[in-house]
Amino acid sequence: GDAVDAAADAVDDAVETAADVADDAKDAAMGAMEDAGEAAAAVADAAGDAADAVMEEAGDAMDAAKEAVAGATSSDSAAAAEGPCALTIEAGDAAQFSTTELSAPASCTDITVTLVHTGTLPKVAMGHNWVLVPEDAMGAVAGGAVAKGVEGNYVADDDRIVAATGLVGGGESSSVTFSASDLEDGVTYMYMCTFPGHYIAMQGTFTIS
Ligand code: CO
Repeated sequence: GDAVDAAADAVDDAVETAADVADDAKDAAMGAMEDAGEAAAAVADAAGDAADAVMEEAGDAMDAAKEAVAGATSSDSAAAAEGPCALTIEAGDAAQFSTTELSAPASCTDITVTLVHTGTLPKVAMGHNWVLVPEDAMGAVAGGAVAKGVEGNYVADDDRIVAATGLVGGGESSSVTFSASDLEDGVTYMYMCTFPGHYIAMQGTFTIS
């Protein structure tokens, strides 16, 4: 009778409600999947950008490493230079060269001078370089060095400079090779350290013997 009909209606309603709930759940699930997809795409983009940045940094690091290797190679070959045309001069934790006279034989085509810092102080505090100039250019070249700073090895921009090593601190060395033909007859050549305040105490004569 009526009770059975009512029960049947109730069952129909329940089934419809269940179907609606299922639909809603499906819609919600689809929406969530779309959102997740967008989020995943955004994450992938960010990861791509990060990967690009890492690759760029890796590239820069490779360039720096190549330069370091090239530098090491050139200083190795300079350090390996031997014989009468390869001269060595030292300086330590005081503003003083180990010698005030350097001389190369007239037979040399190229002359290599290696400056060895035998001290321990860093180059910002007790840096040394070896700069070869005609005697009458000493003051100007020393004066022009200050503005160049440690980054510029305290070597002035001056065409009269015949040769200049890098700036070294404790435990470091630097070499420079120049042609004997760069030296003019009848000119007195002097070497000096152009670290600020050093050149009066750190200088010597350079001659061809
Ligand atoms: Co010095």
